[in-house]
Amino acid sequence: MPRAVKFDRYGGTDVLRVVEVDRPVPGPQQVLIGMKAAGINPGEAAIREGAFAKQWPATFPSGQGSDLAGVVEAVGSAVRNVAVGDEVIGFTNNRSSHAELVVVEADHLIGRPTHVSWEQAGALFVAGTTAYAAVHAVSLKAGDTVVISGAAGGVGSIAVQLAKILGAKVIGLAANHTWLADHGVIPVAYGEGVADRIRAASGGKVDAFIDTFGGGYVDLALELGAAPDRIDTIIDFAAAAKHGVKTEGNSAAANTQVLVELASLIDTGRLEIPIAKVYHLADVRDAYQDLAQRHTRGKIVLVP
Ligand SMILES: NC(=O)c1ccc[n+]([C@@H]2O[C@H](COP(=O)([O-])OP(=O)(O)OC[C@H]3O[C@@H](n4cnc5c(N)ncnc54)[C@H](OP(=O)(O)O)[C@@H]3O)[C@@H](O)[C@H]2O)c1
Repeated sequence: MPRAVKFDRYGGTDVLRVVEVDRPVPGPQQVLIGMKAAGINPGEAAIREGAFAKQWPATFPSGQGSDLAGVVEAVGSAVRNVAVGDEVIGFTNNRSSHAELVVVEADHLIGRPTHVSWEQAGALFVAGTTAYAAVHAVSLKAGDTVVISGAAGGVGSIAVQLAKILGAKVIGLAANHTWLADHGVIPVAYGEGVADRIRAASGGKVDAFIDTFGGGYVDLALELGAAPDRIDTIIDFAAAAKHGVKTEGNSAAANTQVLVELASLIDTGRLEIPIAKVYHLADVRDAYQDLAQRHTRGKIVLVP
Protein backbone atom coordinates (compact mmCIF):
# COMPACT_ATOMS: atom_id res chain seq x y z
CA MET A 1 0.00 0.00 0.00
CA PRO A 2 1.24 3.56 -0.67
CA ARG A 3 2.47 5.66 2.23
CA ALA A 4 1.45 9.23 3.12
CA VAL A 5 2.27 11.76 5.85
CA LYS A 6 -0.71 12.32 8.16
CA PHE A 7 -1.49 13.94 11.49
CA ASP A 8 -4.53 13.44 13.73
CA ARG A 9 -4.29 16.54 15.91
CA TYR A 10 -2.53 19.91 15.97
CA GLY A 11 0.93 19.85 17.50
CA GLY A 12 4.69 19.70 17.05
CA THR A 13 6.56 17.45 14.64
CA ASP A 14 5.78 14.48 16.92
CA VAL A 15 2.18 14.41 15.62
CA LEU A 16 3.42 13.60 12.11
CA ARG A 17 3.11 9.96 11.08
CA VAL A 18 3.90 8.11 7.88
CA VAL A 19 1.04 5.66 7.36
CA GLU A 20 -0.19 3.24 4.72
CA VAL A 21 -3.24 4.53 2.86
CA ASP A 22 -5.57 3.24 0.15
CA ARG A 23 -4.37 3.83 -3.38
CA PRO A 24 -5.93 7.21 -4.36
CA VAL A 25 -8.19 7.24 -7.43
CA PRO A 26 -8.20 10.35 -9.66
CA GLY A 27 -11.53 11.93 -10.62
CA PRO A 28 -12.36 12.78 -14.27
CA GLN A 29 -10.28 16.02 -14.30
CA GLN A 30 -7.52 14.67 -12.05
CA VAL A 31 -4.19 12.90 -12.36
CA LEU A 32 -2.46 10.38 -10.09
CA ILE A 33 1.22 11.23 -9.62
CA GLY A 34 3.98 8.99 -8.32
CA MET A 35 5.80 11.60 -6.24
CA LYS A 36 9.56 11.90 -6.93
CA ALA A 37 10.18 15.00 -4.79
CA ALA A 38 8.06 17.37 -2.67
CA GLY A 39 9.23 20.56 -0.98
CA ILE A 40 8.39 21.46 2.60
CA ASN A 41 7.39 24.96 3.69
CA PRO A 42 7.14 26.88 6.98
CA GLY A 43 3.44 27.57 6.34
CA GLU A 44 2.68 23.84 6.52
CA ALA A 45 4.32 23.68 9.93
CA ALA A 46 2.17 26.61 11.07
CA ILE A 47 -0.99 24.85 9.86
CA ARG A 48 0.04 21.64 11.64
CA GLU A 49 0.68 23.59 14.85
CA GLY A 50 -2.85 25.01 14.66
CA ALA A 51 -1.89 28.64 13.97
CA PHE A 52 -4.63 28.88 11.33
CA ALA A 53 -7.18 26.67 13.08
CA LYS A 54 -9.80 29.45 13.13
CA GLN A 55 -9.42 30.62 9.49
CA TRP A 56 -8.83 27.24 7.83
CA PRO A 57 -9.63 24.42 10.27
CA ALA A 58 -8.04 21.08 9.41
CA THR A 59 -10.12 17.95 9.08
CA PHE A 60 -8.41 14.97 10.69
CA PRO A 61 -6.61 12.88 9.73
CA SER A 62 -4.95 15.67 7.74
CA GLY A 63 -2.24 15.31 5.13
CA GLN A 64 0.20 18.04 4.22
CA GLY A 65 2.23 19.45 1.36
CA SER A 66 1.52 21.57 -1.72
CA ASP A 67 4.66 21.27 -3.88
CA LEU A 68 5.46 18.20 -5.92
CA ALA A 69 7.10 16.72 -8.98
CA GLY A 70 6.68 13.19 -10.23
CA VAL A 71 5.57 10.75 -12.89
CA VAL A 72 1.98 10.37 -14.08
CA GLU A 73 0.61 6.98 -13.00
CA ALA A 74 -3.03 7.35 -14.09
CA VAL A 75 -5.29 10.02 -15.58
CA GLY A 76 -9.01 10.77 -15.19
CA SER A 77 -11.37 10.18 -18.12
CA ALA A 78 -11.50 13.89 -19.14
CA VAL A 79 -7.76 14.64 -18.90
CA ARG A 80 -6.10 15.56 -22.19
CA ASN A 81 -2.99 17.60 -21.23
CA VAL A 82 -0.89 14.79 -19.71
CA ALA A 83 -0.53 11.05 -20.21
CA VAL A 84 0.71 8.09 -18.19
CA GLY A 85 4.50 8.21 -17.93
CA ASP A 86 4.82 12.01 -18.31
CA GLU A 87 7.22 13.76 -15.93
CA VAL A 88 5.48 16.71 -14.32
CA ILE A 89 5.83 19.60 -11.86
CA GLY A 90 2.81 20.89 -10.00
CA PHE A 91 0.89 21.62 -6.87
CA THR A 92 -2.15 20.58 -4.91
CA ASN A 93 -4.33 22.75 -2.68
CA ASN A 94 -5.48 19.67 -0.73
CA ARG A 95 -2.53 19.39 1.66
CA SER A 96 -1.49 16.03 0.27
CA SER A 97 1.79 16.13 -1.66
CA HIS A 98 3.84 14.51 1.11
CA ALA A 99 2.91 11.04 -0.05
CA GLU A 100 4.08 8.37 -2.47
CA LEU A 101 0.94 8.78 -4.59
CA VAL A 102 -0.80 12.13 -4.97
CA VAL A 103 -4.02 13.11 -6.77
CA VAL A 104 -3.62 16.49 -8.49
CA GLU A 105 -5.95 18.59 -10.65
CA ALA A 106 -4.81 18.19 -14.26
CA ASP A 107 -4.62 21.97 -14.73
CA HIS A 108 -2.18 22.28 -11.81
CA LEU A 109 0.57 20.49 -13.73
CA ILE A 110 3.28 21.42 -16.23
CA GLY A 111 5.85 19.24 -17.95
CA ARG A 112 9.26 18.86 -16.30
CA PRO A 113 11.91 20.40 -18.56
CA THR A 114 15.01 18.26 -19.19
CA HIS A 115 17.45 20.25 -17.09
CA VAL A 116 15.29 20.72 -14.00
CA SER A 117 16.30 18.12 -11.39
CA TRP A 118 13.60 16.24 -9.52
CA GLU A 119 14.54 18.02 -6.27
CA GLN A 120 14.38 21.51 -7.81
CA ALA A 121 11.13 20.62 -9.57
CA GLY A 122 9.53 19.27 -6.39
CA ALA A 123 10.53 22.34 -4.38
CA LEU A 124 9.46 24.95 -6.90
CA PHE A 125 5.80 25.78 -6.42
CA VAL A 126 5.30 27.59 -3.09
CA ALA A 127 8.69 29.28 -2.77
CA GLY A 128 8.96 30.03 -6.49
CA THR A 129 5.54 31.59 -6.94
CA THR A 130 5.92 33.53 -3.68
CA ALA A 131 9.27 34.95 -4.74
CA TYR A 132 7.83 35.79 -8.17
CA ALA A 133 4.87 37.63 -6.62
CA ALA A 134 7.05 39.53 -4.15
CA VAL A 135 9.52 40.67 -6.78
CA HIS A 136 6.73 41.84 -9.08
CA ALA A 137 4.89 43.54 -6.19
CA VAL A 138 7.75 45.99 -5.67
CA SER A 139 7.91 46.91 -9.40
CA LEU A 140 11.64 46.39 -9.88
CA LYS A 141 13.35 47.90 -12.89
CA ALA A 142 16.95 48.02 -14.07
CA GLY A 143 19.10 50.17 -11.79
CA ASP A 144 16.86 49.90 -8.72
CA THR A 145 18.38 48.85 -5.42
CA VAL A 146 16.35 46.26 -3.51
CA VAL A 147 17.03 44.79 -0.07
CA ILE A 148 15.78 41.26 0.64
CA SER A 149 15.63 39.77 4.14
CA GLY A 150 15.98 36.00 4.56
CA ALA A 151 17.89 36.24 1.30
CA ALA A 152 19.33 32.72 1.34
CA GLY A 153 16.14 30.95 2.46
CA GLY A 154 13.56 29.13 0.36
CA VAL A 155 11.75 32.21 -0.91
CA GLY A 156 14.67 34.63 -0.56
CA SER A 157 17.13 32.59 -2.61
CA ILE A 158 14.72 32.65 -5.54
CA ALA A 159 13.69 36.29 -5.04
CA VAL A 160 17.29 37.55 -5.15
CA GLN A 161 17.86 35.81 -8.49
CA LEU A 162 14.58 37.06 -10.03
CA ALA A 163 15.45 40.60 -8.89
CA LYS A 164 18.89 40.27 -10.53
CA ILE A 165 17.28 39.09 -13.78
CA LEU A 166 15.21 42.32 -13.76
CA GLY A 167 18.45 44.30 -13.54
CA ALA A 168 18.27 45.40 -9.91
CA LYS A 169 21.18 45.82 -7.53
CA VAL A 170 20.33 43.28 -4.83
CA ILE A 171 21.37 43.48 -1.17
CA GLY A 172 20.70 40.23 0.66
CA LEU A 173 20.40 40.02 4.45
CA ALA A 174 21.68 36.63 5.57
CA ALA A 175 24.27 34.66 7.46
CA ASN A 176 25.05 32.63 4.32
CA HIS A 177 27.17 35.11 2.37
CA THR A 178 29.07 32.78 0.03
CA TRP A 179 26.08 31.55 -1.98
CA LEU A 180 24.72 35.11 -2.31
CA ALA A 181 28.04 36.59 -3.46
CA ASP A 182 28.39 33.74 -5.97
CA HIS A 183 25.03 34.79 -7.41
CA GLY A 184 25.85 38.48 -7.80
CA VAL A 185 24.08 39.58 -4.62
CA ILE A 186 25.70 41.95 -2.10
CA PRO A 187 25.55 40.04 1.19
CA VAL A 188 24.96 42.03 4.38
CA ALA A 189 24.87 40.57 7.89
CA TYR A 190 21.66 41.13 9.82
CA GLY A 191 21.58 42.11 13.50
CA GLU A 192 22.66 45.25 15.32
CA GLY A 193 23.89 47.97 12.96
CA VAL A 194 22.19 46.48 9.90
CA ALA A 195 20.73 49.83 8.79
CA ASP A 196 24.21 51.39 8.59
CA ARG A 197 25.60 48.37 6.77
CA ILE A 198 22.77 48.57 4.21
CA ARG A 199 23.35 52.31 3.74
CA ALA A 200 27.05 51.63 3.14
CA ALA A 201 26.32 48.84 0.66
CA SER A 202 23.61 50.75 -1.20
CA GLY A 203 25.24 54.16 -1.28
CA GLY A 204 22.23 55.48 0.59
CA LYS A 205 19.58 54.69 -2.05
CA VAL A 206 17.10 51.90 -1.27
CA ASP A 207 14.22 51.81 -3.77
CA ALA A 208 12.47 48.64 -2.66
CA PHE A 209 12.42 46.05 0.13
CA ILE A 210 11.20 42.45 0.20
CA ASP A 211 10.78 40.98 3.68
CA THR A 212 10.68 37.19 3.95
CA PHE A 213 11.61 37.04 7.62
CA GLY A 214 9.49 39.45 9.68
CA GLY A 215 10.37 40.91 13.07
CA GLY A 216 10.88 44.58 12.23
CA TYR A 217 12.08 44.59 8.62
CA VAL A 218 9.08 46.64 7.43
CA ASP A 219 10.07 49.42 9.87
CA LEU A 220 13.66 49.12 8.68
CA ALA A 221 12.54 49.42 5.04
CA LEU A 222 10.66 52.63 5.80
CA GLU A 223 13.62 53.97 7.79
CA LEU A 224 15.86 53.32 4.76
CA GLY A 225 13.54 55.42 2.58
CA ALA A 226 11.64 52.81 0.55
CA ALA A 227 8.11 53.94 -0.35
CA PRO A 228 5.31 51.83 1.18
CA ASP A 229 4.12 50.66 -2.25
CA ARG A 230 7.60 49.32 -2.96
CA ILE A 231 7.79 47.25 0.22
CA ASP A 232 6.41 43.71 0.26
CA THR A 233 6.33 41.45 3.31
CA ILE A 234 5.20 37.84 3.03
CA ILE A 235 5.10 37.30 6.78
CA ASP A 236 4.61 40.46 8.88
CA PHE A 237 0.92 41.16 8.25
CA ALA A 238 0.58 43.34 11.37
CA ALA A 239 3.31 45.69 10.16
CA ALA A 240 1.77 45.68 6.68
CA ALA A 241 -1.62 46.73 8.07
CA LYS A 242 0.00 49.43 10.20
CA HIS A 243 2.10 50.95 7.43
CA GLY A 244 0.11 50.13 4.28
CA VAL A 245 2.85 48.09 2.63
CA LYS A 246 2.18 45.16 0.30
CA THR A 247 1.68 41.50 1.26
CA GLU A 248 1.75 39.77 -2.10
CA GLY A 249 2.83 36.14 -1.83
CA ASN A 250 2.01 32.68 -3.10
CA SER A 251 -1.68 33.31 -3.86
CA ALA A 252 -0.81 36.22 -6.19
CA ALA A 253 1.16 33.96 -8.54
CA ALA A 254 -0.10 30.44 -7.85
CA ASN A 255 -0.67 29.36 -11.42
CA THR A 256 0.92 27.20 -14.08
CA GLN A 257 1.98 30.15 -16.29
CA VAL A 258 4.32 31.32 -13.53
CA LEU A 259 5.49 27.74 -12.95
CA VAL A 260 6.32 27.41 -16.65
CA GLU A 261 8.28 30.67 -16.55
CA LEU A 262 10.25 29.63 -13.47
CA ALA A 263 10.92 26.11 -14.76
CA SER A 264 12.16 27.56 -18.04
CA LEU A 265 14.57 29.86 -16.18
CA ILE A 266 15.95 26.83 -14.33
CA ASP A 267 16.11 24.76 -17.51
CA THR A 268 18.17 27.44 -19.25
CA GLY A 269 20.55 27.92 -16.33
CA ARG A 270 19.32 31.37 -15.28
CA LEU A 271 17.71 30.31 -11.98
CA GLU A 272 18.91 27.87 -9.35
CA ILE A 273 16.82 26.40 -6.56
CA PRO A 274 19.48 25.60 -3.95
CA ILE A 275 18.68 22.28 -2.31
CA ALA A 276 19.68 22.46 1.35
CA LYS A 277 18.88 18.84 2.19
CA VAL A 278 16.90 15.85 0.96
CA TYR A 279 14.99 13.66 3.45
CA HIS A 280 13.09 10.44 2.91
CA LEU A 281 9.36 10.62 3.58
CA ALA A 282 9.92 8.37 6.62
CA ASP A 283 12.09 11.13 8.14
CA VAL A 284 9.51 13.89 7.69
CA ARG A 285 9.74 14.86 11.38
CA ASP A 286 13.50 15.48 11.03
CA ALA A 287 12.89 17.51 7.89
CA TYR A 288 10.48 19.85 9.68
CA GLN A 289 12.73 20.10 12.74
CA ASP A 290 15.51 21.19 10.42
CA LEU A 291 13.25 23.79 8.74
CA ALA A 292 12.11 25.12 12.14
CA GLN A 293 15.67 26.30 12.89
CA ARG A 294 14.95 29.11 10.36
CA HIS A 295 18.41 28.85 8.82
CA THR A 296 17.64 26.75 5.76
CA ARG A 297 19.80 27.57 2.78
CA GLY A 298 17.40 27.15 -0.12
CA LYS A 299 14.87 24.33 0.02
CA ILE A 300 14.43 21.13 2.03
CA VAL A 301 12.87 18.37 -0.06
CA LEU A 302 11.19 15.05 0.72
CA VAL A 303 11.65 12.02 -1.53
CA PRO A 304 9.71 8.73 -1.31
N1 LIG B 1 2.70 34.86 2.25
C1 LIG B 1 3.04 33.81 1.52
O1 LIG B 1 2.43 33.53 0.49
C2 LIG B 1 4.20 32.97 1.96
C3 LIG B 1 4.66 31.96 1.12
C4 LIG B 1 5.79 31.23 1.49
C5 LIG B 1 6.42 31.51 2.71
N2 LIG B 1 5.90 32.47 3.53
C6 LIG B 1 6.54 32.77 4.83
O2 LIG B 1 7.78 33.40 4.54
C7 LIG B 1 8.76 33.05 5.49
C8 LIG B 1 10.01 32.55 4.77
O3 LIG B 1 9.73 31.34 4.13
P1 LIG B 1 10.94 30.46 3.57
O4 LIG B 1 10.35 29.22 3.02
O5 LIG B 1 11.82 31.30 2.73
O6 LIG B 1 11.72 30.14 4.96
P2 LIG B 1 13.15 29.52 5.21
O7 LIG B 1 13.53 28.70 4.01
O8 LIG B 1 13.09 28.89 6.54
O9 LIG B 1 14.16 30.76 5.23
C9 LIG B 1 14.30 31.59 6.31
C10 LIG B 1 15.62 32.34 6.13
O10 LIG B 1 15.67 33.41 7.07
C11 LIG B 1 17.02 33.69 7.33
N3 LIG B 1 17.13 34.36 8.63
C12 LIG B 1 17.20 33.80 9.88
N4 LIG B 1 17.25 34.77 10.81
C13 LIG B 1 17.19 35.95 10.14
C14 LIG B 1 17.18 37.31 10.54
N5 LIG B 1 17.22 37.68 11.85
N6 LIG B 1 17.13 38.27 9.59
C15 LIG B 1 17.07 37.96 8.27
N7 LIG B 1 17.06 36.68 7.82
C16 LIG B 1 17.12 35.70 8.75
C17 LIG B 1 17.73 32.36 7.28
O11 LIG B 1 19.00 32.57 6.67
P3 LIG B 1 20.44 32.57 7.43
O12 LIG B 1 20.77 31.15 7.77
O13 LIG B 1 21.31 33.19 6.43
O14 LIG B 1 20.24 33.37 8.68
C18 LIG B 1 16.86 31.50 6.37
O15 LIG B 1 17.54 31.23 5.16
C19 LIG B 1 8.11 32.02 6.40
O16 LIG B 1 7.68 32.66 7.56
C20 LIG B 1 6.92 31.53 5.62
O17 LIG B 1 5.86 31.08 6.44
C21 LIG B 1 4.82 33.20 3.18
